Amino acid sequence: MRQNPKLWAHAKHIAFIMDGNRRYARKSSIDRQEGHLQGFNKLAETLQWCLDLGITEVTVYAFSIENFKRSKDEVDGLMHLARQKFEKLLEEKNEIMKHGVCIRVLGDLTLLPKDVQEVVADAMYISRNNTRAILNVCMAYTARHEITNAFKEVSWGVSKGLLKPSDISEEVLEKCFYTSHSPDPDLLIRTSGEVRLSDFLLWQHYSVLAFVEVLWPEYSIWHFFQGILYYQMNQKQVQLARDKRDALRLEAILESDKTEVVKMLSEENKCPEETAILPQRIAEYAAQRQKRITNFVETLDAKRTQQLLNMLPARTMSEIPTS
Ligand code: IPE
Ligand code: IPE
Ligand code: MG
Repeated sequence: MRQNPKLWAHAKHIAFIMDGNRRYARKSSIDRQEGHLQGFNKLAETLQWCLDLGITEVTVYAFSIENFKRSKDEVDGLMHLARQKFEKLLEEKNEIMKHGVCIRVLGDLTLLPKDVQEVVADAMYISRNNTRAILNVCMAYTARHEITNAFKEVSWGVSKGLLKPSDISEEVLEKCFYTSHSPDPDLLIRTSGEVRLSDFLLWQHYSVLAFVEVLWPEYSIWHFFQGILYYQMNQKQVQLARDKRDALRLEAILESDKTEVVKMLSEENKCPEETAILPQRIAEYAAQRQKRITNFVETLDAKRTQQLLNMLPARTMSEIPTS
């Protein structure tokens, strides 16, 4: 039987809001910390399902900035678990390299305790050139923080003379996001029956959203398959919305370039409507704008790489060859 390609659209990137650990602990009469531990273990299991199905990118909400407001005891417990799991990952470095998994921890890492910053930076550093699969762990993350931080980066770019204020667009802002290296998730799944996003990927919302009743530690492969099926049934509408967004963005950039060129021509005392060179001037201007943006993004990436290097533990630093 011929497969209908529309029915079998393949989700490449899935995001999870892994919610419900404490309710699971209460329900199962176990410690809260044990509930969180089972949550971390469920993540490992889920990642294997994703790998088996050829889903090449996974983004998980592991700890929000708001979560720092929980009791000290709980926050310390979660940070301890995170450190342990990253240490284990580092011990299994060969497995990560064998599977070609790139690990990125996204959020305001400076908010994390120093020992967690070190293991996280280590995992990101050793896996940075892997391309076969990507795991984004959102920690000390909220979408509003991500967007506000992107504004700060853009204004830094303008203050350094790398960008003109008129260069600022949706695309330029996105390049400053923690998630700048990832496309929007195709499917976002939240467990625990809560039907809100809790400040997760608010900008990157061109995704099929699935809210499921099950608590995260109880999430099974059957729930996962259900999610994939739900994606297949709904992805077409999301794709249409994405196409519309892309077309509107392109229109906005063309309009902005034209406005800038018209301004420049009138400063040269040329009447834009009468000049036949308008399309050529717009094309030249667009090329210059693109060059400024590329240069800005490269400078920003170098700044971020330096921040990552500064977070690395001394033992890893000593292994980096100096050129
Ligand atoms: C999600 O489970 C894990 C984190 C937020 C760290 P919760 O801890 O939010 O558990 P519930 O939602 O209160 O049951
Ligand atoms: C969202 O869950 C954050 C994570 C799953 C890490 P929360 O349990 O913190 O969200 P709210 O407080 O219910 O919105
Ligand atoms: Mg919760």
